[in-house]
Amino acid sequence: MKLVVIGCGYVGLVTGGCLAAAGHDVVATDNDSGKIASLQAGRIPIYEPHLDEVIASAQNAGRLRFTTDTGEAIRSGEVIFICVGTPPRETGEADLSAIDNVARLIAMEARSPKLVVEKSTVPAQTGQKLRRALNVYGRSSGLQFDVASNPEFLREGTGVGDFFHPDRIVVGVETPEADRQLREIYEPIVGGRFDCALHPHGCPASPDPEFLVTTIPSAELIKHASNSFLAMKISYANVIADLCERLGGNVEEVTRAMGLDPRIGRQFLNAGLGFGGFCLPKDIQAFIHLADQVGVDFSLLKEAERVNRQRIDRLMEKIRHHLWVVKDKQVGLLGLAFKPFTDDIRLAPALDVIRQLRAEGAKLRATDPEAMERTRAIFPEIAYSGDPYEVARGADALLVLTEWPQFKQLDWGRIHREMARPLILDARNMLDPLTMRLQGFEYDSFGRPAVDASVTAESAR
Ligand SMILES: NC(=O)c1ccc[n+]([C@@H]2O[C@H](COP(=O)([O-])OP(=O)(O)OC[C@H]3O[C@@H](n4cnc5c(N)ncnc54)[C@H](O)[C@@H]3O)[C@@H](O)[C@H]2O)c1
Repeated sequence: MKLVVIGCGYVGLVTGGCLAAAGHDVVATDNDSGKIASLQAGRIPIYEPHLDEVIASAQNAGRLRFTTDTGEAIRSGEVIFICVGTPPRETGEADLSAIDNVARLIAMEARSPKLVVEKSTVPAQTGQKLRRALNVYGRSSGLQFDVASNPEFLREGTGVGDFFHPDRIVVGVETPEADRQLREIYEPIVGGRFDCALHPHGCPASPDPEFLVTTIPSAELIKHASNSFLAMKISYANVIADLCERLGGNVEEVTRAMGLDPRIGRQFLNAGLGFGGFCLPKDIQAFIHLADQVGVDFSLLKEAERVNRQRIDRLMEKIRHHLWVVKDKQVGLLGLAFKPFTDDIRLAPALDVIRQLRAEGAKLRATDPEAMERTRAIFPEIAYSGDPYEVARGADALLVLTEWPQFKQLDWGRIHREMARPLILDARNMLDPLTMRLQGFEYDSFGRPAVDASVTAESAR
């Protein structure tokens, strides 16, 4: 089928690349001409494992092309996926101006009926407003537009695998024809008939994904409800971590045991610095705003958001407790991206930590395997190095802000020798407290008991 993707950001590129790999003809467009020029030249503007291979092979097979001519793109396809950003406004409400702009373009440029699919995350009832906008903007053409919602659940860092091997595909539709078109688009994914970049020798056996057909408002709600639930789980684990610190428990023992209950599940129960990125923080805010607008009390979610904001304060308390005076202390930062395997720093907790440490006069040096350039654009005044040992050199404290696995593999004996004071504040609970103490570090994390010196001396014998 001939498909159009509008918006070549993270979601648009994964969607366009993977649907082309699944055998469709995809034309992708964006109003950022620099981005399109770099994609046409074979450069992917974001870091996402396997995405470069997927896009290159789809381009070589002639199934995926990028254009700045949005009108030509719109006319070329039967189904249009809207993948533009929906960032938060000051109030937390989702800013839908990019969706409105795209609706106007589609209505003005289309010469035949189209199915317009919301893939961007939008508040419930956006589908109705989108259909109305398409019909108003396109009233002179007399064309009828069908609208559907197809929320995206992929996770940055594993987006390609998530697209090829989803646990569910949700489509909200209003007509049998939209249902048929979306089934046809996803048939290769549901039936496992596509070139999988992750498993060139055959994908491991796994259950077929559920293809769920719902109303459009349900599909829109499913996305916000899912992300908000995950955010609540993280905040719940963080409150348990605070309780563990006061009552002598170990949050890892508690959440592991909780997670073994299939009604609860293990994932998203990791205590630490809290959630960030372009999904959970903004989606939870948009959902709170939506509930407020329609008079539904969602205090539950407001608390989850408040707990998340407090994680930065909790880390700063620990920093002040250990360093006493923060001003003029040399602090090394391991990790900037909001999570590993991405260069995305949008709403990353590390940015708030940097702001607060700078406000208190700390001298900062940071490293991240992928996110240094993006962070440098926001904080050009702090020092960066690709070498974590250089970041540790002369530091009074080293903070773990993103749990990149390569940080675990560092030569921690060497880090210890490089530091002015061997103090590690592990805001992601990535390292083992006992091992760190045995190596002579002062070590603190969230919700895990400090290992006292006598225990470490005993273990060392
Ligand atoms: N990032 C994720 O992991 C993720 C996962 C699921 C859903 N989502 C949702 O998907 C949507 C897109 O997210 P993203 O991370 O890809 O955002 P993004 O900011 O990386 O990409 C948006 C792209 O849209 C382009 N754009 C904006 N206005 C345009 C217009 N009028 N015409 C053409 N192009 C336009 C921008 O130039 C940009 O390239 C958001 O609603 C987000 O909440 C994101």
